[in-house]
Amino acid sequence: MRILVLNGSPKRDKSDVMHVTSAFLEGMKEAGTQEIEIINVIDRHIEYCTGCFSCMHNGGTCFIEDDMKEVLEKILESDLLLLSFPLYCYGMPAPLKAVIDRVLPLSSMAMTKVGDRYDHVAQADFSRLSYLMISGCGFPNSRHNFEPAVEQFKLMFPVEHTCITVPESPMFSAPEAAPVTEPRLQLVKEAGRQYAAARTIDEALMEAICSPMIPEEVYASIVNSGV
Ligand SMILES: Cc1cc2nc3c(=O)[nH]c(=O)nc-3n(C[C@H](O)[C@H](O)[C@H](O)COP(=O)(O)O)c2cc1C
Repeated sequence: MRILVLNGSPKRDKSDVMHVTSAFLEGMKEAGTQEIEIINVIDRHIEYCTGCFSCMHNGGTCFIEDDMKEVLEKILESDLLLLSFPLYCYGMPAPLKAVIDRVLPLSSMAMTKVGDRYDHVAQADFSRLSYLMISGCGFPNSRHNFEPAVEQFKLMFPVEHTCITVPESPMFSAPEAAPVTEPRLQLVKEAGRQYAAARTIDEALMEAICSPMIPEEVYASIVNSGV
Protein backbone atom coordinates (compact mmCIF):
# COMPACT_ATOMS: atom_id res chain seq x y z
CA MET A 1 0.00 0.00 0.00
CA ARG A 2 1.28 3.51 -0.77
CA ILE A 3 0.92 5.61 2.34
CA LEU A 4 1.35 9.37 2.50
CA VAL A 5 1.76 10.69 6.03
CA LEU A 6 1.23 14.41 6.57
CA ASN A 7 2.85 15.13 9.93
CA GLY A 8 1.12 18.27 11.18
CA SER A 9 3.22 18.67 14.31
CA PRO A 10 5.62 21.61 14.14
CA LYS A 11 7.90 19.43 16.31
CA ARG A 12 8.61 17.16 13.32
CA ASP A 13 10.04 13.80 14.48
CA LYS A 14 10.05 15.04 18.10
CA SER A 15 6.25 14.97 17.93
CA ASP A 16 4.40 13.17 20.75
CA VAL A 17 1.77 12.01 18.27
CA MET A 18 4.33 10.61 15.84
CA HIS A 19 5.18 7.96 18.46
CA VAL A 20 1.63 6.68 17.96
CA THR A 21 1.77 7.06 14.18
CA SER A 22 5.11 5.26 13.98
CA ALA A 23 3.76 2.34 16.04
CA PHE A 24 0.73 2.14 13.75
CA LEU A 25 2.95 2.11 10.65
CA GLU A 26 5.18 -0.55 12.25
CA GLY A 27 2.09 -2.73 12.68
CA MET A 28 1.09 -2.12 9.07
CA LYS A 29 4.57 -3.11 7.90
CA GLU A 30 4.36 -6.34 9.88
CA ALA A 31 1.17 -7.20 8.00
CA GLY A 32 2.50 -6.50 4.52
CA THR A 33 4.74 -4.43 2.30
CA GLN A 34 4.09 -0.72 2.65
CA GLU A 35 5.56 2.19 0.74
CA ILE A 36 5.58 5.06 3.23
CA GLU A 37 6.41 8.72 2.70
CA ILE A 38 6.30 11.18 5.59
CA ILE A 39 6.00 14.90 4.91
CA ASN A 40 6.69 17.28 7.77
CA VAL A 41 4.21 19.93 6.72
CA ILE A 42 6.02 22.68 8.65
CA ASP A 43 9.05 22.29 6.33
CA ARG A 44 7.06 22.80 3.13
CA HIS A 45 6.28 26.06 1.45
CA ILE A 46 2.51 26.07 1.47
CA GLU A 47 0.74 29.40 0.94
CA TYR A 48 -2.76 29.99 2.25
CA CYS A 49 -5.69 29.44 -0.13
CA THR A 50 -6.77 32.86 -1.42
CA GLY A 51 -10.37 31.75 -2.00
CA CYS A 52 -10.38 32.74 -5.69
CA PHE A 53 -12.04 29.42 -6.68
CA SER A 54 -10.26 29.47 -10.06
CA CYS A 55 -9.00 25.90 -9.47
CA MET A 56 -12.60 24.69 -9.22
CA HIS A 57 -13.47 26.15 -12.62
CA ASN A 58 -10.33 25.44 -14.62
CA GLY A 59 -10.00 21.69 -14.17
CA GLY A 60 -7.88 21.78 -11.06
CA THR A 61 -4.93 24.13 -11.39
CA CYS A 62 -4.02 26.48 -8.57
CA PHE A 63 -2.20 29.65 -9.64
CA ILE A 64 0.04 29.63 -6.54
CA GLU A 65 3.56 28.39 -7.26
CA ASP A 66 4.59 26.49 -4.14
CA ASP A 67 5.00 22.93 -2.81
CA MET A 68 1.28 22.18 -2.87
CA LYS A 69 1.44 20.98 -6.48
CA GLU A 70 3.81 18.19 -5.42
CA VAL A 71 1.74 17.37 -2.32
CA LEU A 72 -1.42 17.05 -4.44
CA GLU A 73 0.41 14.74 -6.86
CA LYS A 74 1.57 12.58 -3.96
CA ILE A 75 -1.95 12.45 -2.50
CA LEU A 76 -3.33 11.23 -5.84
CA GLU A 77 -0.61 8.56 -6.10
CA SER A 78 -1.42 7.18 -2.62
CA ASP A 79 -3.77 4.50 -1.33
CA LEU A 80 -3.86 5.92 2.18
CA LEU A 81 -3.69 9.53 3.33
CA LEU A 82 -2.68 9.61 6.98
CA LEU A 83 -2.96 12.89 8.88
CA SER A 84 -0.91 12.79 12.08
CA PHE A 85 -1.34 15.87 14.23
CA PRO A 86 -1.56 17.29 17.73
CA LEU A 87 -4.85 18.83 18.71
CA TYR A 88 -4.46 22.62 18.61
CA CYS A 89 -7.43 24.62 19.94
CA TYR A 90 -9.74 21.65 19.24
CA GLY A 91 -8.63 21.37 15.62
CA MET A 92 -5.58 20.71 13.49
CA PRO A 93 -2.50 22.97 13.61
CA ALA A 94 -2.58 25.88 11.13
CA PRO A 95 0.18 24.59 8.78
CA LEU A 96 -1.74 21.35 8.22
CA LYS A 97 -5.03 23.20 7.87
CA ALA A 98 -3.37 25.29 5.14
CA VAL A 99 -2.61 22.06 3.25
CA ILE A 100 -6.16 20.76 3.70
CA ASP A 101 -7.63 24.05 2.41
CA ARG A 102 -5.43 23.70 -0.66
CA VAL A 103 -6.87 20.29 -1.70
CA LEU A 104 -9.67 22.36 -3.27
CA PRO A 105 -8.33 21.79 -6.84
CA LEU A 106 -9.42 18.15 -6.55
CA SER A 107 -13.06 19.27 -6.57
CA SER A 108 -15.08 21.20 -9.13
CA MET A 109 -17.54 23.98 -8.29
CA ALA A 110 -20.48 21.69 -9.14
CA MET A 111 -22.31 20.44 -6.08
CA THR A 112 -24.30 17.28 -5.59
CA LYS A 113 -26.50 16.02 -2.81
CA VAL A 114 -24.95 13.17 -0.84
CA GLY A 115 -27.36 11.84 1.75
CA ASP A 116 -28.65 14.87 3.63
CA ARG A 117 -25.88 17.28 2.68
CA TYR A 118 -24.15 18.70 -0.38
CA ASP A 119 -20.61 18.01 -1.53
CA HIS A 120 -18.55 19.14 -4.50
CA VAL A 121 -18.19 16.88 -7.52
CA ALA A 122 -14.65 15.52 -7.90
CA GLN A 123 -12.49 16.70 -10.79
CA ALA A 124 -9.69 14.23 -10.04
CA ASP A 125 -9.83 10.51 -9.38
CA PHE A 126 -9.13 9.90 -5.70
CA SER A 127 -11.61 7.05 -5.40
CA ARG A 128 -9.02 4.52 -4.25
CA LEU A 129 -7.88 6.62 -1.28
CA SER A 130 -8.60 5.71 2.32
CA TYR A 131 -8.17 8.29 5.07
CA LEU A 132 -6.75 7.93 8.53
CA MET A 133 -6.41 10.53 11.24
CA ILE A 134 -4.14 9.98 14.23
CA SER A 135 -4.36 12.80 16.73
CA GLY A 136 -3.12 13.31 20.25
CA CYS A 137 -3.81 15.97 22.82
CA GLY A 138 -2.48 17.42 26.05
CA PHE A 139 -5.59 17.13 28.20
CA PRO A 140 -6.64 13.77 29.65
CA ASN A 141 -10.22 14.09 28.40
CA SER A 142 -11.26 13.15 24.88
CA ARG A 143 -14.88 14.29 25.27
CA HIS A 144 -15.36 18.03 24.79
CA ASN A 145 -11.95 18.07 23.13
CA PHE A 146 -11.49 15.92 19.99
CA GLU A 147 -15.03 16.27 18.59
CA PRO A 148 -14.46 19.27 16.27
CA ALA A 149 -11.34 17.73 14.69
CA VAL A 150 -13.00 14.34 14.24
CA GLU A 151 -16.14 15.87 12.75
CA GLN A 152 -14.10 18.04 10.37
CA PHE A 153 -12.09 15.00 9.24
CA LYS A 154 -15.22 12.95 8.60
CA LEU A 155 -16.86 15.76 6.62
CA MET A 156 -13.71 16.40 4.60
CA PHE A 157 -13.21 12.70 3.86
CA PRO A 158 -16.71 11.18 3.99
CA VAL A 159 -15.77 7.67 2.87
CA GLU A 160 -13.23 5.14 4.11
CA HIS A 161 -12.21 7.20 7.12
CA THR A 162 -10.80 6.05 10.45
CA CYS A 163 -10.02 8.29 13.42
CA ILE A 164 -7.63 7.43 16.24
CA THR A 165 -7.54 9.95 19.07
CA VAL A 166 -5.18 9.53 22.00
CA PRO A 167 -5.38 11.75 25.09
CA GLU A 168 -2.46 12.44 27.45
CA SER A 169 -0.10 12.24 24.47
CA PRO A 170 2.85 14.22 25.94
CA MET A 171 3.47 11.02 27.91
CA PHE A 172 4.73 9.35 24.72
CA SER A 173 7.78 11.63 24.79
CA ALA A 174 8.48 11.03 28.50
CA PRO A 175 10.83 8.03 28.99
CA GLU A 176 9.66 7.64 32.62
CA ALA A 177 6.13 6.97 31.33
CA ALA A 178 7.28 3.92 29.33
CA PRO A 179 5.54 1.42 31.68
CA VAL A 180 2.19 2.80 30.46
CA THR A 181 3.06 4.12 27.00
CA GLU A 182 4.79 0.92 25.80
CA PRO A 183 1.71 -1.30 26.30
CA ARG A 184 -0.40 1.39 24.60
CA LEU A 185 1.96 1.49 21.62
CA GLN A 186 1.69 -2.30 21.38
CA LEU A 187 -2.08 -1.91 21.05
CA VAL A 188 -1.56 0.73 18.37
CA LYS A 189 0.75 -1.66 16.53
CA GLU A 190 -1.97 -4.33 16.63
CA ALA A 191 -4.39 -1.75 15.22
CA GLY A 192 -1.91 -1.13 12.38
CA ARG A 193 -1.78 -4.85 11.63
CA GLN A 194 -5.58 -5.10 11.60
CA TYR A 195 -5.93 -1.99 9.44
CA ALA A 196 -3.41 -3.27 6.89
CA ALA A 197 -5.24 -6.57 6.66
CA ALA A 198 -8.85 -5.36 6.47
CA ARG A 199 -8.91 -1.51 6.63
CA THR A 200 -10.83 -1.76 9.88
CA ILE A 201 -9.90 -1.84 13.55
CA ASP A 202 -11.72 -3.91 16.13
CA GLU A 203 -14.09 -1.72 18.19
CA ALA A 204 -12.80 -2.87 21.59
CA LEU A 205 -9.20 -2.30 20.52
CA MET A 206 -10.07 1.16 19.27
CA GLU A 207 -11.74 2.01 22.58
CA ALA A 208 -8.68 0.82 24.51
CA ILE A 209 -6.31 2.91 22.35
CA CYS A 210 -8.41 6.07 22.66
CA SER A 211 -8.80 5.89 26.46
CA PRO A 212 -6.54 7.68 28.98
CA MET A 213 -3.37 5.74 29.88
CA ILE A 214 -3.51 6.80 33.51
CA PRO A 215 -6.52 8.14 35.45
CA GLU A 216 -7.39 11.71 34.46
CA GLU A 217 -6.91 13.10 37.97
CA VAL A 218 -3.48 11.47 38.32
CA TYR A 219 -2.38 12.87 34.95
CA ALA A 220 -3.64 16.35 35.85
CA SER A 221 -1.87 16.28 39.22
CA ILE A 222 1.42 15.19 37.59
CA VAL A 223 1.14 18.04 35.08
CA ASN A 224 0.19 20.52 37.82
CA SER A 225 3.11 19.46 40.02
CA GLY A 226 5.49 20.56 37.25
CA VAL A 227 4.07 24.04 36.65
C1 LIG B 1 -1.30 26.05 20.34
C2 LIG B 1 -1.66 24.80 21.07
C3 LIG B 1 -3.00 24.46 21.22
C4 LIG B 1 -3.34 23.27 21.90
N1 LIG B 1 -4.67 22.96 22.02
C5 LIG B 1 -5.03 21.83 22.70
C6 LIG B 1 -6.39 21.47 22.82
O1 LIG B 1 -7.31 22.12 22.29
N2 LIG B 1 -6.69 20.37 23.56
C7 LIG B 1 -5.73 19.59 24.15
O2 LIG B 1 -6.05 18.62 24.83
N3 LIG B 1 -4.41 19.87 23.97
C8 LIG B 1 -4.05 20.98 23.28
N4 LIG B 1 -2.71 21.27 23.07
C9 LIG B 1 -1.68 20.31 23.56
C10 LIG B 1 -1.11 19.41 22.43
O3 LIG B 1 -2.14 18.78 21.70
C11 LIG B 1 -0.19 18.36 23.07
O4 LIG B 1 0.86 18.99 23.74
C12 LIG B 1 0.35 17.33 22.09
O5 LIG B 1 0.86 16.24 22.82
C13 LIG B 1 1.46 17.88 21.20
O6 LIG B 1 1.76 16.90 20.25
P1 LIG B 1 3.05 16.94 19.29
O7 LIG B 1 4.26 16.77 20.19
O8 LIG B 1 2.84 15.77 18.38
O9 LIG B 1 3.08 18.23 18.57
C14 LIG B 1 -2.33 22.44 22.43
C15 LIG B 1 -0.97 22.78 22.24
C16 LIG B 1 -0.64 23.94 21.59
C17 LIG B 1 0.83 24.29 21.42
